[in-house]
Amino acid sequence: MSLNNIEEIAAFIVADGKGILAADESNPTCGKRFDSIGVESTEENRRDYREMLFRSKGMKENIGGVILFDETLRQSAADGTLLRDLILDQGALPGIKVDKGLQPIDDCPGETVTVGLDGLDERLKEYVAMGAKFTKWRAVINIGDGTPTDKCIDANMQALADYAKHAQNNRMVPIVEPEVLMDGEHSIDECYEATKRSLKSLFSHLEDKGVNIKGTLLKPNMVTSGKSADVQASIEEVAKKTLECLIANVPSDLPGVTFLSGGQSDVLATAHLDAMNKIGGFSWKLSFSYGRALQAPALKAWGGKKENVFISQDELSHRAEMNKLASLGQWEEELEDR
Ligand code: 13P
Repeated sequence: MSLNNIEEIAAFIVADGKGILAADESNPTCGKRFDSIGVESTEENRRDYREMLFRSKGMKENIGGVILFDETLRQSAADGTLLRDLILDQGALPGIKVDKGLQPIDDCPGETVTVGLDGLDERLKEYVAMGAKFTKWRAVINIGDGTPTDKCIDANMQALADYAKHAQNNRMVPIVEPEVLMDGEHSIDECYEATKRSLKSLFSHLEDKGVNIKGTLLKPNMVTSGKSADVQASIEEVAKKTLECLIANVPSDLPGVTFLSGGQSDVLATAHLDAMNKIGGFSWKLSFSYGRALQAPALKAWGGKKENVFISQDELSHRAEMNKLASLGQWEEELEDR
């Protein structure tokens, strides 16, 4: 792979319907996922699990990048091969999550700002030397009584823009992730409003900082009903409103929009992406950067047992393939019957 600059890297990751495997769960989050299958979250178990994912056949042709946690970027497979080299062998690029989590904001109850700018430049230099080609920073926006506040949106989007500039200065593609959470009883229209305000603020800060949009990827939430809302919007409505919000607020020279799944079921996340690509009418690639929606069936099938490795890999391969088809607007529900 000869990629000469951030614009080529960003375009490569989302070329031909490919998307991103988000495997950057922090150790505590990985612990929660492993708890659900009764597996202890040790360094070795985390390594075995991720090695299994990265060796899956379906990585090839369907996955253009994998987001890693610090520990995984440094880890080797059981046979001594660096995990990041397994990813390259599958034709994908290794990336790294660089934010350091959430901190409460003064006078904004229930709201947080993502931190991690201190020492970021030094960390980025080390990650580049280890071969990371792109980075991720996640901001979290909560819909609730009187939230999100402008203060919360502004603080988070400013930090995202600062981070993106640092990443590009170090020749890495920044993935900017302003996640409006699905948690709550809110309507799809409230999600639209919060997503619109976040995107407007984000792109205004990115422009102020002089971030090169052609060397950036956006990882947004879809515009959906709250998880606990009585009325759930249909697939068509989610697709229509998400596209409307993105087309109005995202510059057309951005190379790719790679959605997070945010707690949607695996098949629904695929169906939404496919519905949007069937509608069309936008200039960016519209693809995926799913964590749970790519991994959940594989995690369940694995259960921490060696004898389940092949069926687990088959599950990941299937979801990767289905999501590539959805990125091309070529998925059909019947393809899920296997
Ligand atoms: P989910 O797809 O599970 O939301 O994870 C994506 C991610 O990277 C969140 O930061």
